[in-house]
Amino acid sequence: MDKIIIHGGTPLRGSIGLSGSKNATLPILMASLLTAEPLVISNVPRLRDVNTAIDLLATLGVDVQWSGEHRLELCGANAASWEAPYELVKTMRASFVVLGPLLARHGRARVSTPGGCAIGARPVNLHMAGIRALGAKVQLRHGYVEAHAERLRGARVWLDNPSVGATENIMMAAVRAQGQTVIENAAREPEVQDLARMLTAMGAQIAGAGTHVIEIEGVQRLHGAEHHVIADRIEAGSLMAAATITGGDLTIENAPVDQLDAVMVKLVEAGAEVHAHNGALRVCRSAPLHPIELRTLPYPGFPTDLQAQMMAVLTQAHGTSVITETIFENRFMHALELLRMGADVVMKGPTAIVRGSSRLSGAPVMATDLRASMSLILAGLVAENTTEVSRIYHLDRGYEDIDAKLRAIGARLERVPDKGE
Ligand code: UD1
Repeated sequence: MDKIIIHGGTPLRGSIGLSGSKNATLPILMASLLTAEPLVISNVPRLRDVNTAIDLLATLGVDVQWSGEHRLELCGANAASWEAPYELVKTMRASFVVLGPLLARHGRARVSTPGGCAIGARPVNLHMAGIRALGAKVQLRHGYVEAHAERLRGARVWLDNPSVGATENIMMAAVRAQGQTVIENAAREPEVQDLARMLTAMGAQIAGAGTHVIEIEGVQRLHGAEHHVIADRIEAGSLMAAATITGGDLTIENAPVDQLDAVMVKLVEAGAEVHAHNGALRVCRSAPLHPIELRTLPYPGFPTDLQAQMMAVLTQAHGTSVITETIFENRFMHALELLRMGADVVMKGPTAIVRGSSRLSGAPVMATDLRASMSLILAGLVAENTTEVSRIYHLDRGYEDIDAKLRAIGARLERVPDKGE
């Protein structure tokens, strides 16, 4: 295992490009189970989670080949298996999204439940209820969700909350079902919209992706397609936070500006300057940071996947900020590590009170999940002396080549083997 050593104190400056979105890529790859014809997906980020998805698809019989640095060719002609094993699903929760496509393709599926997760319970009840509404018999046996249906039938599905994964799973089950499916209170995330674009390119009939009501008219078969994955808005937000916390000046090329409204508003409120121009986003800060109130919400609200990074930023604000996490019940693990660096954070249930501005001092800290790792790196960028972030395999799950990218804009950090692990 590796760790990252950061020497703090340098503002980040320059231009940087974004990778393809991890959360869009994963379900899009799973869509290869829905057709026997080839798919070509470009702008695929090189990430551990993408490798896990490829391993899972290979286990299910999909032929997957890299045909370029960021281009994957997939063919599900010989995808004969309908079982997603525990070993792969437990390492990546997004694997559970094969349930819908497997059921649509084979009329049956056996998919391990994902199990525990560092950021909360994250059940799959909404996925199961949705599949059941489409006429499948679904039961939980020996840690696996087992589902079968002679023919899936379109139905109205109302989601208790707008779960991203459940929306994607139900969409992929419904595209080949008989008749119309309407998903109400659907997730509106751009990644759901990108999956809908991909499925549409494959011949699916989908209306309303990006709104709370998605309508799907089932078709007999789907065909091959090409698709370019959208840019990663969470990577963009993380880099915007990096420019803000270090008092730097960054231009993020190919930024999905229209997907970042909530992030821009909150960073500006905290004292950053943000300018959007010709598809690029310039973020800089020269004034002191102000405290803010922040609440994570489903899209288009402020994303939970940027909450940890914002907490690092707010440790540097002059005053008391309040962060409320409404999506996951246990997503403040990074706060405990930030405390070790001298941050002043008090947690009360879903709320964290961040008293700034703290003089952070470098320390050995441990990444607990993907976005928490970035929060610690951001803290390390402004801390005195040296910060060592261990367990960075979490970082590699979702940030492509991030140490090289940050170095290119002036960060002083290096990746070294972690002999202590
Ligand atoms: C996706 C993202 C993740 C992001 C999250 C919320 C991917 C691969 N991951 O995760 O980065 O943090 O959206 O934006 O796209 N829930 C239930 N029952 C269910 C499903 C979910 O109660 O059956 C709850 C979860 O516990 C959580 C909330 O719904 O509290 C939102 O979860 P969900 O939107 O499903 O997140 P994921 O799709 O797992």
